[in-house]
Amino acid sequence: MYEHDVIVVGAGGAGLRAAIAAHEAGADTALVTKLHPVRSHTGAAEGGINAALQEGDDWELHAYDTMKGSDYLGDAPAVETLAQDSPEDTMRLEHWGMPFSREEDGRVSQRPFGGLSYPRTTYAGAETGHHLLHVMYEQVVKRGIQVYDEWYVMNLATTDEPDPNDRTCHGVVAYDVQSGQIEGFKANDGVILATGGPGQAFDHTTNAVSCTGDGHAIAYRAGVPLEDMEFIQFHPTSLPSTGVLISEGVRGEGGILYNEKGERFMFEYGYANNDGELASRDVVSRAELTEVNEGRGVNDEYVYLDMRHLGEERILDRLENILHLAEDFEGVDGLVEPMPVKPGQHYAMGGIETDENGQTNIDGLYAAGECACVSVHGGNRLGGNALPELIVFGKRAGRHAAGEDLGDAQIETGYGEDVEVETDADLPVTPGEVGIEPADDGVAADGGVTADAEGLLERTVERERERVDRLMDKDDGIQHAEIRQKLQKAMTDYVNVFRTEEGIKKALKVIRECREEYQHVYVDDPSRTFNTDLQQTYETRNLIDVAETIALGALVRNEFRGAHWRKERQERDDENWLKHTLISWNGGKPDIFYRPVILEGEEKTYEPKVRSY
Ligand code: FUM
Repeated sequence: MYEHDVIVVGAGGAGLRAAIAAHEAGADTALVTKLHPVRSHTGAAEGGINAALQEGDDWELHAYDTMKGSDYLGDAPAVETLAQDSPEDTMRLEHWGMPFSREEDGRVSQRPFGGLSYPRTTYAGAETGHHLLHVMYEQVVKRGIQVYDEWYVMNLATTDEPDPNDRTCHGVVAYDVQSGQIEGFKANDGVILATGGPGQAFDHTTNAVSCTGDGHAIAYRAGVPLEDMEFIQFHPTSLPSTGVLISEGVRGEGGILYNEKGERFMFEYGYANNDGELASRDVVSRAELTEVNEGRGVNDEYVYLDMRHLGEERILDRLENILHLAEDFEGVDGLVEPMPVKPGQHYAMGGIETDENGQTNIDGLYAAGECACVSVHGGNRLGGNALPELIVFGKRAGRHAAGEDLGDAQIETGYGEDVEVETDADLPVTPGEVGIEPADDGVAADGGVTADAEGLLERTVERERERVDRLMDKDDGIQHAEIRQKLQKAMTDYVNVFRTEEGIKKALKVIRECREEYQHVYVDDPSRTFNTDLQQTYETRNLIDVAETIALGALVRNEFRGAHWRKERQERDDENWLKHTLISWNGGKPDIFYRPVILEGEEKTYEPKVRSY
């Protein structure tokens, strides 16, 4: 068994930043990660970091834009913290060596991004995330923080009191991808989940194959609610054949969108008369699909993004990476041709419910980054707000887990007596665990009996070893890939940009079938070393649970807010829906409850307004 004060799971932007902060606060800190840190999906973030750095801009404008962008579903204390801390945290990256793009006079450059009232997106070419990872990994190495890379975290070791709010997390159980060894990692002070998004629940996504919602699923099964899972962002400019991202930075620099008829449709059809291509992402994605649905798409599938008029010099200076992506993945030379683009799943606004300090309702368990919902993005994230979230809330979670006093949180977590419970008895949910049940050994569903921390860790390790043995011992059944493909197709067909009640129910039916089929899943590869079949079988189980929460949230939220569009009610319903959706795993089935959104900031209340661009 390994032992540290703070264990950070995942080594993308949020994980690295959390580990640095915990270490600086004096904790013996370790990162446990299924990928080498610099291979994390943060590396695919192209555009930049929103930070009010310049004269004429200020954190209040950033907070206002973020609340408006969220369609008034962001919690003001979290949104204001993001906007207030981002400038200093961004400049700290600069001091650590982040190679930000610069103006002639040496100042850090900032570009316009969708939904921003000021050009405040700080960037390093069109590969900001790549540099961010390298700069922070250098800081991790410099500080001697222990990194267990290629260790896949299978489960949390949490106690099993009947009320999840009384539980404690004492560590994690992980699988060494290289050797097949399964071990416990005891955390004396806290576990921070920073495992990224669940994009692989969809089949057309900008997300890497590693984005499988692992942190979401293990926290959910341990008793932490997942919040606002229905809010999935579809980025307007992904390449049609692969889903590879073409940065919003192209439109920020002046790139334009047009349809098959050569019309600049954002203006031509009044989708966003003021901001055009730089309206917020949900608006642009719906506009593109409307063009396709009304017969003005190219090849009935996509539209064009054109940057030729920016000129070779500017493109090479600020967007060189885009040229490589378009050429390598679509065979298109962006200097001489427009690039084909269509909406692709990009980001999950919802996630593991936390407060402003990254704390969940389970003592000792934290989350930060895309896997968490603090909530700063509400119904729709603004481009350039993901990276500041990683550095601001990664830092806060690291400090808090290491014992620093950050003051009382204003955001509440966990199922409480005062919450509003969803009472619709007809929700099409499937009770029961996904997949291979270990023997009934008195250990709770996915946690463990209340015990001393070491005993709990040992039993949770035993449980996962047994689960693996069962998966490996079977020699026929169904392989996870078949189930995953079916799940991804249903989510893309029915829980996409445009959603209907009928479609969402179809998706839930397929998810139920996937759960049932997973009872017969087996791992074909008998090897214990680098067994990707085994790891992906675990990941697919996580995707099934997470997909179910996305579809359930989408079914109950009968309104149109941010990225969540519903055919049955094509307007925002502030009277009934200024509230977060929370789904918690209760005795083997999902329960849904609600908590009001917090619109009161430090000095003002963000009154919901019509959201136009
Ligand atoms: O378009 C982009 O470069 C993506 C940025 C983001 O998701 O924040």
